[in-house]
Amino acid sequence: MGSKKSSFLLIYIAIILSVFILIGFVLSPMVEGNEQIVVILCLVGGLTTFFILLHNLYINYIKPVRSVSMVARELVKGNYKARTYVNNYGEAGQLSNSINVLARSLQEMNVHEKMQGSQLKTVIDNMESGLMLIDEKGYVHLINRKFLNMFGQEAKDYIGYLYYEVLEQENIHKAVQEAFLYEEKVKDSFTISMKVEKRFVEIVGAPIFNESNDLKGAVLVFHDITELKRLEQMRKDFVANVSHELKTPITSIRGFAETLLDGAMDEEKLRNQFLSIILSESERLQALVYDLLELSKLEKEELRLRTEVVDIKELLEGLLPITKQQASKKEITFKASLGDEIKLVGDQGRLKQVFINLINNAINYTPNNGQVDLKVNSTANTVKIIVSDTGIGIPEEFQSRIFERFYRVDRARSRNTGGTGLGLAIVKHIIEAHKGSIEIKSELDKGSSFIVTLPKNSM
Ligand SMILES: Nc1ncnc2c1ncn2[C@@H]1O[C@H](COP(=O)(O)OP(=O)(O)OP(=O)(O)O)[C@@H](O)[C@H]1O
Ligand SMILES: [Mg+2]
Repeated sequence: MGSKKSSFLLIYIAIILSVFILIGFVLSPMVEGNEQIVVILCLVGGLTTFFILLHNLYINYIKPVRSVSMVARELVKGNYKARTYVNNYGEAGQLSNSINVLARSLQEMNVHEKMQGSQLKTVIDNMESGLMLIDEKGYVHLINRKFLNMFGQEAKDYIGYLYYEVLEQENIHKAVQEAFLYEEKVKDSFTISMKVEKRFVEIVGAPIFNESNDLKGAVLVFHDITELKRLEQMRKDFVANVSHELKTPITSIRGFAETLLDGAMDEEKLRNQFLSIILSESERLQALVYDLLELSKLEKEELRLRTEVVDIKELLEGLLPITKQQASKKEITFKASLGDEIKLVGDQGRLKQVFINLINNAINYTPNNGQVDLKVNSTANTVKIIVSDTGIGIPEEFQSRIFERFYRVDRARSRNTGGTGLGLAIVKHIIEAHKGSIEIKSELDKGSSFIVTLPKNSM
């Protein structure tokens, strides 16, 4: 293009040069002597003036206009960094200036747009919900990272395809169709299998309209509601468990009371036997209600520990007499090695509750003639209290569940020990409130160790 323009310029120069030479040839026979020199000088002068004018024209107009048009072409191509550097005054100078201003604005707009685009992409990609955008024909245009987490595969496996070709869930098809058909928001939920687990997903589909209210597509948002469902299930289980646990002693109390009224109270032996059953069942009921209240107090977020400096050795020593008495009833050997005094900041009463629970469990779930040990290990920042026994042990598959409310490994056996199944749930809450942790090592029929780790100065 440039060489074409310069060749035009050369042709103009050649034509003008020829015209001057022609004039020279025409005029030279008409004049003689000195006049000829005057004519030649005039022609040369004219030609020089012409070239000077042409040079000025080139520098002031042609060159800037060329540079401007080159910059314009670059801008069209999307190269917003292009600028014209031909310095000039007058009209052409203004033109160069204007194209530079235009290029700068375009560059700024482009940077701004890119920034907005990347911000939007960051927001979409970091959303906690899956997102899919489809056009009015059903082709997928956009999906985010969470969507890929939920449904697997890669973006290229979805984008550009019809949604029903790449997603097999009927509920998604239905949601899209309803969003298109009724042109309003739709909600549904379904389950998908992710890797090994099943997840509950809620889908919200909303149609998209343009300014003239034509349907342009739909946006689908996928919320993972598995955790919510789990909590809902836990709440339902809890209510069912509480009712069940309360029902057993109440039924028994009522049954024995009725039997007494029906005549059994006349027989002293039966009366004593039934009344003591009623007493023990009502004690069980009382323990259950007490534990439930305790748990609900602990679960309230505003649980306040009454913290003070606690000497763990002293605290555990206080539990020894009653523990030894309980152990000796079952002929269990009880050994405590408590080491030196260890101070930490905590709630004395609550911590006592933790160790009473763990020691009671160790004694309850250890057959006669077994052994229970209580050990304290101290490191720079933590205290480890280990309660171990040679009892019935806990199978590995149940070890993660024993801290759940009402969970008992062997329901019949632990109910015989008078347990409510709330002890370890309470223990875990208290330890967590102290920013500590509890760990369990156990082998079936060999024994269990519960290891409590407490920070020395976390509060
Ligand atoms: N040291 C242990 N050895 C074997 N099993 C244990 C031991 N400690 C706890 N378990 C098992 O874990 C279950 C839950 O214990 P948890 O202390 O929460 O309830 P519980 O002892 O049945 O009742 P309670 O609320 O009266 O303590 C027990 O029922 C028992 O099956
Ligand atoms: Mg217990």
